[in-house]
Amino acid sequence: MTKTCEVDLVTEWDQKVEKLLIDGISSKFPDHKFIGEEGSSLGNKVELTDAPTWIIDPIDGTMNFVHTLPHTCISIALVINKVTEIGVVYNPILEQLFSARRGQGAFLNGAPISVSGEKELRKALVMMEMGTSRDPEKMKVVLENANNLISQVHGIRSLGSAALNMCMVALGGADVSFEFGIHAWDVAAGDIIVREAGGVCIDPAGGSFDLMSRRALCASTSELAQELAIVLVQYYPERD
Ligand code: IPD
Repeated sequence: MTKTCEVDLVTEWDQKVEKLLIDGISSKFPDHKFIGEEGSSLGNKVELTDAPTWIIDPIDGTMNFVHTLPHTCISIALVINKVTEIGVVYNPILEQLFSARRGQGAFLNGAPISVSGEKELRKALVMMEMGTSRDPEKMKVVLENANNLISQVHGIRSLGSAALNMCMVALGGADVSFEFGIHAWDVAAGDIIVREAGGVCIDPAGGSFDLMSRRALCASTSELAQELAIVLVQYYPERD
């Protein structure tokens, strides 16, 4: 089925996985709250309070899942007092389990991972996405950024999953990732995984990362993050 437009998809599996996770977690922690992609798309209000809240994207990269491109994942974060404590991103097709706990590092299938340490934009491999919005203003900004960046960086890549893009930065396979128009469930787990791998997450204009702003930039170093922020054409979607 489609959601906001023809290329914003939801499958029965998005709904089943979200229900499975919420039912399972609720049975152990009945007082915890949830922000889930599919619940939110049914009109449930997205509200992040100080209560322990699980932020869930049951399938990030739904378009890839529909096409059987194997870059698709489940993204789960636990946020308490608005501080992210745990992040898990799992690609069940490639059996890649990225995980992080605040202050305890980031891991891929249990082995520690770390960012590349790259500081210079001209040497960076950049992850960016077209996104699922077909709003002309948003598409113009995406294409302007791609057009401006291609001659300034080593390369541009898109996996089709914001969470996996961020995990590639955490792994050191890419150096920086940014996107406008993502939601909290796309980036909550990736944020802590990148930071625990030694990287940074900021607002794409250079300020502090705001989980509910629908704007994210993560990088292997703050130097690289700020260098990219200066050259990006900005886009400000409506907040979550
Ligand atoms: C989408 C993916 C995609 C990104 C979109 C997201 P979904 O998440 O992360 O890479 O460009 O902005 O909405 O809809 O597949 O969970």
